[in-house]
Amino acid sequence: MKRDFLTVLDFTTKEIESLLVRARELKAMQKKGVENNPLMGKTLGLLFEKQSTRTRLSFEVAAIQLGGHSIYLSPHQIQLGRGEAIQDTARVFARYLDAIVIRTYDHGMVEEWARRSSIPVINGLTDLHHPCQVISDILTILEKKDKVSGIRLAYIGDGNNVAHSLIEGAAVMGMHIRAASPAGYDPDNGIVSKAREIAKETGATVEIMREPAGAVVDADVVYTDVWTSMGQEGEEDERKKSFKKYQVNRVLMKPAKDDAIIMHCLPAHRGEEITEDVMESPQSVIFDQAENRLHMQKALLEMLMR
Ligand code: CP
Ligand code: NVA
Repeated sequence: MKRDFLTVLDFTTKEIESLLVRARELKAMQKKGVENNPLMGKTLGLLFEKQSTRTRLSFEVAAIQLGGHSIYLSPHQIQLGRGEAIQDTARVFARYLDAIVIRTYDHGMVEEWARRSSIPVINGLTDLHHPCQVISDILTILEKKDKVSGIRLAYIGDGNNVAHSLIEGAAVMGMHIRAASPAGYDPDNGIVSKAREIAKETGATVEIMREPAGAVVDADVVYTDVWTSMGQEGEEDERKKSFKKYQVNRVLMKPAKDDAIIMHCLPAHRGEEITEDVMESPQSVIFDQAENRLHMQKALLEMLMR
């Protein structure tokens, strides 16, 4: 049976724990130059409808480092862009490829791909979720804090795809998440309710708040993302006004723990959601986060493609 990875909740706590162990092993192996070719003869497809630096590169490099290959496709370059049905495209893809990473707008689209496809479908970001980002962020938190369960994570800003996957990740892994967003930009109610259900089992807590200063009190991790996500460019001016008080800066960081780490999935807009000094401070682990995309996705590809 093929497995898909469309949201963090597609994996159990135990499965994410195994991925964390394996990602750390793979990272250590790579640093030592140990060869590991489980994807020999296998090909990963990437079908991206939105721009990407990290997700594209880390998946392509992951496939290569595991002895496999990758092929990058934009919907506009293939017949899909001229109206060929997903149903048919997915069947054809499965005759050539061993797994596919999809980045698109509507989350329903990756669900349809998963239904139609006999090979694993990995969500490389939709308007609703960014699960690959978050499982690798959990790896970064584990490395920096030596634990995940019980960690207090403050998410400041838009209740967007990254926020949704963080809320699910916190629930599954027993973290305490507080997300502070301006009115009208709260995370999705359905995602929050589901996360709270799971939290009852794992000891996690999920709080949705308005005040950023309240959210960061005693935080171990302060996380932010852009105010305007891909596809929302038309709302940029309005969003800049609404999110003004939601900038991660020195003052906002004060109530957090002294050794709190600062995270951002990137790309960042210095001077908007995060200040330059905070981004470049010793507390920032933003570029380790970017690196860990590679190691965690290697573990993910091994699990789904082998
Ligand atoms: N964080 C992230 O997914 O970056 P890209 O949009 O560059 O892939
Ligand atoms: N929320 C951002 C994340 C980019 C990795 C976006 O969707 O544009």
